[in-house]
Amino acid sequence: MFDLSGKTALVTGAGQNMGAGVARTLAGQGAHVLVNDLLAERADEVAADITAAGGSAAGVAFDVTDLDAVTAAIEANGPVDIVINNAGNGGAEGMVPTQFKDMDPAEWDSPIQVNLRGVMNTSYAVINGMVDRGWGRIITISSGAGNAGVGIGVAPYSAGKGGGLGFTRSLALEVASTGVTCNSVALGLMNNVGTSDVTAHLAKGVPAKRLGSPEDVGAMCVYLASPEASWVTAQTYNLNGGSITS
Ligand SMILES: NC(=O)c1ccc[n+]([C@@H]2O[C@H](COP(=O)([O-])OP(=O)(O)OC[C@H]3O[C@@H](n4cnc5c(N)ncnc54)[C@H](O)[C@@H]3O)[C@@H](O)[C@H]2O)c1
Repeated sequence: MFDLSGKTALVTGAGQNMGAGVARTLAGQGAHVLVNDLLAERADEVAADITAAGGSAAGVAFDVTDLDAVTAAIEANGPVDIVINNAGNGGAEGMVPTQFKDMDPAEWDSPIQVNLRGVMNTSYAVINGMVDRGWGRIITISSGAGNAGVGIGVAPYSAGKGGGLGFTRSLALEVASTGVTCNSVALGLMNNVGTSDVTAHLAKGVPAKRLGSPEDVGAMCVYLASPEASWVTAQTYNLNGGSITS
């Protein structure tokens, strides 16, 4: 089960952390993985690690907010059977929590561009090919901040992540009869930094008493990408150790 041999998977923002874990897990199930990142050296390093471990991968650097670049990369490296829309950010300078009322409107753009427009760009670049071939998987990595309110000063990020969820659900229904499925995974508190006092403190608030790992995300993506998940579409899965969501 869950064999991805013969499939080509594009994982965006896969140069580190969650995306790198997803890329490695998909490769472990037999997929040829296109490891994307904005930063070529990150993408190439993850692809080299996968290849060294016996998998099949190539680094493919582009900016998901640039539709022409996305389209060119997919034309050069496709056809693509599986897309994991993982690239995401909290803002051009990373996540700097700021209450909306105190925010400069210029700060809205980057979280919307990467977390929503980036998802639309990659989906647009692959959807017609997937429909024509009668098989495809689009999986959008979102956040609990995209499907529930959070008052911690990340409203534009919430908007981008929530937009990605709504877009993926509606695209799913447009193509539901074609063999293409589209689903989302809303992540809770993930561990990007290893063991520390901060992660230990955060883990206490999670019912499962640990933060999420790249392998947790990879396993969910393998299932949703698999032939066995062909009847699963237009869904959002919360992957959060039991944390409360609305
Ligand atoms: N880490 C968490 O706690 C957490 C929680 C909820 C949701 N998420 C979501 O999970 C996904 C992965 O999170 P992460 O913590 O591993 O992210 P990360 O910031 O550690 O890594 C993201 C990668 O994406 C790349 N990237 C950024 N913008 C890009 C662009 N425009 N085009 C191509 N690549 C780009 C970066 O260079 C980086 O290597 C993101 O969508 C994030 O919003 C993360």
